[in-house]
Amino acid sequence: MEQVYIFDTTLRDGEQVPGCKLNTREKLELALKLEALGVDIIEAGFPISSPGDFESVEEISKIIKNATVCGLSRAVQKDIEVAAAALKHAKKPRIHTGIGTSDFHIRSKFNSTREEILERAVQAVKWARNFVDDVEFYAEDAGRTDNEYLARVIEAVIRAGATVLNIPDTTGYCLPEQYGQKMAYLKNHVPNIDKAILSCHCHNDLGLATANSITGAVAGARQIECTINGLGERAGNTSLEEVVMVLKQHKHLGLYTNIHTQMLNPISREVADTMRVPVQPNKAIVGGNAFSHSSGIHQDGFLKDSQTYEIINPDEVGADGSKIVLTARSGRSALAHRLQKIGYSFNRNDVDVLYESFLRVADSKKEVEEEDLHQLARAYKQEPATV
Ligand code: KIV
Ligand code: ZN
Repeated sequence: MEQVYIFDTTLRDGEQVPGCKLNTREKLELALKLEALGVDIIEAGFPISSPGDFESVEEISKIIKNATVCGLSRAVQKDIEVAAAALKHAKKPRIHTGIGTSDFHIRSKFNSTREEILERAVQAVKWARNFVDDVEFYAEDAGRTDNEYLARVIEAVIRAGATVLNIPDTTGYCLPEQYGQKMAYLKNHVPNIDKAILSCHCHNDLGLATANSITGAVAGARQIECTINGLGERAGNTSLEEVVMVLKQHKHLGLYTNIHTQMLNPISREVADTMRVPVQPNKAIVGGNAFSHSSGIHQDGFLKDSQTYEIINPDEVGADGSKIVLTARSGRSALAHRLQKIGYSFNRNDVDVLYESFLRVADSKKEVEEEDLHQLARAYKQEPATV
């Protein structure tokens, strides 16, 4: 089994979401939780972007003991110097510097040429290496960058001292197959690639961020950049909880992470509350419905053996437990189960009769609640067995 390093960018790419701005105290609290979760690298912020973000990166650097603390910069000397200053106290500092490498970025953003951009990339990495030993280079919009040119850039920045190569699908454009092939191309065409770690950084504009990151790792990347709840620019970044559980579920891939998975749901709630972005109910692993069963066919199977409809035990990811939700699509076994849970013991015939009244209530509302069950049971003129 080989380790895939988890690079969490909730405090940087995640915090770029409008309305998610965090103050230093909030960032510090979340950084400590991320370290406890077991992430390998915490991208703490973009120090040159504001005095507040500089302070956050500086304070996080002081308190984080095990994880690498990373600060973002552009391929600009001043940015790199400011990032280095903010990381001064970090036990394991990393400067993350880079530049756009797709022709869209080279022409429209920089009004430049491929050769000039390659030179700027090399100079940025060399400059950053004056301050820290661990320098990650990002080739922004690598997803739409020509592979042959990308390979040249990567080879040059490794020679300049880059230790990690971030291959961002900045616009969330790639298909999993394309992203995997890009990683494989770099593995096979960059002569010094064994001197550095390839990293996946995928955005979710087409809902493919998790699939792309996993395909990238299968093709040889050993770091995945992700955020709690998949927060991030536009449609978000790769969701940490998803990639971690994919690798845990599919052990045949031969890849593992050091994440303590029982902490996934608690930290998801913490991030949702602090950043004030509720988690969508159907979100994998951490959504409110991730372990809820509502249709009769599923409920019956689940009650016979949970594994018929659950591939993950909720305890494994710190979720509250599986739920049998009662709706007009629910069946008799679910009704009997829920009645029993609140203290009523009815035989099969009783449940058959009760089920008719249950359906009338269920058709009139979205979900049948515990109080409705009490009313149904009382109307059936039976006192609760244990109440
Ligand atoms: O999506 C992206 O390209 C980024 C880089 C700054 C790493 O977030
Ligand atoms: Zn990004």
